[in-house]
Amino acid sequence: RAPTISTKPSEWEARARAILPLPNFKYVFGAASSGDTHRENTEAFKRYRLRPSMFVNATRRDLSVELFGTTYPGPLIIGPVGVQEIMHPHAEEATARACRALKIPMVLSSAATRSIERVAAANGDGERWFQLYWPRPQAEEVTVSLLNRAKAEGYKVLVVTLDTFNLAWRPEDLDASYLPFIYGQGCEVGLSDPVFNARYEEELAREKAEKGFTTRLGEALETIRRPGSISGAAKVVANAATMKKAQAWMSILNSGTYREWKHLEILKKYWDGPIVLKGIQTVEDAQKAVEYGMDGFVVSNHGGRQLDGAIASLDALAEIAGDETVKRSGITVLFDSGIRTGSDVLKAIALGAKAVMVGRPFMYGLAIDGEEGVKHVLRCIAADTDNMLGNMGKKSLGELSRNDLRVLGQPAK
Ligand code: FNR
Repeated sequence: RAPTISTKPSEWEARARAILPLPNFKYVFGAASSGDTHRENTEAFKRYRLRPSMFVNATRRDLSVELFGTTYPGPLIIGPVGVQEIMHPHAEEATARACRALKIPMVLSSAATRSIERVAAANGDGERWFQLYWPRPQAEEVTVSLLNRAKAEGYKVLVVTLDTFNLAWRPEDLDASYLPFIYGQGCEVGLSDPVFNARYEEELAREKAEKGFTTRLGEALETIRRPGSISGAAKVVANAATMKKAQAWMSILNSGTYREWKHLEILKKYWDGPIVLKGIQTVEDAQKAVEYGMDGFVVSNHGGRQLDGAIASLDALAEIAGDETVKRSGITVLFDSGIRTGSDVLKAIALGAKAVMVGRPFMYGLAIDGEEGVKHVLRCIAADTDNMLGNMGKKSLGELSRNDLRVLGQPAK
């Protein structure tokens, strides 16, 4: 295959911008409020500089990493990123196939445009984890159903995202009047859930009993159930019915929802594999994750898409991974928000991350060329990481430590 895609991260972004409908591109590219935290995420990498050693035989290098008992060939993980269909029609299935081919774990988002089952089928004997947007306490049976489905489909690790109970103020989306969820996209995990569906049917029946007949939408739902009667008009109303259902799903996810640390017991009860908290930004919360018996956490600020004004994720990692309680606990520290190049990966690992999640870059690859585009982006970042490790004079990622970094603006030791 001709190498038509650039090896430069900035070019992936530029190409995606050129080929996508602008609101779709901006949904991925965009960030919260002023965009400061998003900018800081990548700027921070420039303040941490690598210190190479010479005359080291690093011609053969080992980039493998063990996470929760499984050995992976490299330190890259495909982060949970929702609504992949707005990038490419093959959506999460293309990503799942790319991950399988490269033996990279894929974290499936709760806001996916494909079901847990379809992504598992596309991922085959690949490695997959499941990210949970935790439904509200009143819908605990839906949570349990999602966990059971993920478990049955071979998802190994549960990643619980903590920073998005309250969707952020995002000017790019507000200006474009675009949020995929408004169009019912990104709800596939919920809409394909039998427990959610049963609950929704009950709601509709209750509505019908109370109001004599339901709404126009309920009526439409009845109509389209009769085989063979889907006229063009009915289809339009059927879409409206789906939208109504999608709204019901969204309201289960984040209408005034909140959770407390002690609720993690519920997840531990229904999920027997490793549990990882995503969105940790302070030492205090990292220590809580240890206290509550979590297996790992992801230092992340959601790519600057949630709390604007938060410190760069890399600075948060430096504080958190350097904490004695965290170090002593042996909890697995993962990182995301700003990873673009091989050196970025090495810096995060030198600071104490075991592995890193890739976000926006693979989405741009997906937009450019589906499965092949995702593979291309992942191969580039993996090859760059391997190469830079050699340039550092290191034979394995385990040899990296804080001593390999010089923080600009701080005195050299
Ligand atoms: C995300 N992210 C995200 N995180 C999550 O836990 N569940 C999700 O559904 C999503 N969805 C999502 C959509 C889009 C378009 C983006 C860009 C991001 C956050 C993601 O997992 C990760 O934290 C960031 O992407 C990391 O920042 P960078 O490296 O992409 O800048």
